[in-house]
Amino acid sequence: MADRRRIVAGNWKMNLDHAAAVELAKGVAAGAGKCGGVDLILCPPAVYLEAVAAAIDLTDGASPSGVTLGGQNLHDQPKGAFTGEIAPAMLVDIGCRSCILGHSERRTLFGETDAIVNTKTKAALAAGLTPIVCVGETLEEREQNRTADVVAAQIQGSLAGLSAAELAGIIIAYEPVWAIGTGKVATPEQAQEVHALIRQQLATLADAATADQVVIQYGGSVKPDNAAVLAGQPDIDGALVGGASLKEADFLAIAAHFAAST
Ligand code: PGA
Repeated sequence: MADRRRIVAGNWKMNLDHAAAVELAKGVAAGAGKCGGVDLILCPPAVYLEAVAAAIDLTDGASPSGVTLGGQNLHDQPKGAFTGEIAPAMLVDIGCRSCILGHSERRTLFGETDAIVNTKTKAALAAGLTPIVCVGETLEEREQNRTADVVAAQIQGSLAGLSAAELAGIIIAYEPVWAIGTGKVATPEQAQEVHALIRQQLATLADAATADQVVIQYGGSVKPDNAAVLAGQPDIDGALVGGASLKEADFLAIAAHFAAST
């Protein structure tokens, strides 16, 4: 197995208020040292990015604790008349190093297609951000045994046209839609099977050596009590955590399981 980094990201979605965001960020930064070997990324609501950056003493994109910041979404254009949208360079300006793209909530609630995710991924890379590209099947698709086809198509479509060097630097999050916010976590075997398949797809887009470098996170009801078995799988390199990332102790406990697996 390649010597890949372990990366655990907290997707705070549309939760918390200013004071709670600052408190949570401070707590995560204070505890990050116990998760040695794991990169921690916080993805707060955009309006709290600046406050979180200050709370973790972010300078030049990194906190002394090693914690970095990510956006939850971006627009593919650099600037202009796009009311309510956020340009990639604006995320960089505020201190972000990465951005979640194509989350299933964006895909299903806001109509984001693979083509849109592809454009956003390219815009993120052009601005110097690491895209965290999300893919995953619905329950119906899994029950129809279509998981492999659906995820392969999302990978091919969302990452079309990227060079091997660009692919090597992105993060993929495999998030079965039926596991997000439901408490139903994929079994380690189910997750590993899809992670291995994603890596094969990446090899077809680039080559095996490149595919071997890509960090693939699992997401969907990751909690402290299921993180260890997930972290033990050869192709699961981290987690994209929703609900549990809103609790400092849970988020840090999840990260510690990935630290232990390095
Ligand atoms: P969850 O969300 O951990 O609450 O299931 C994961 C995600 O949507 O990224």
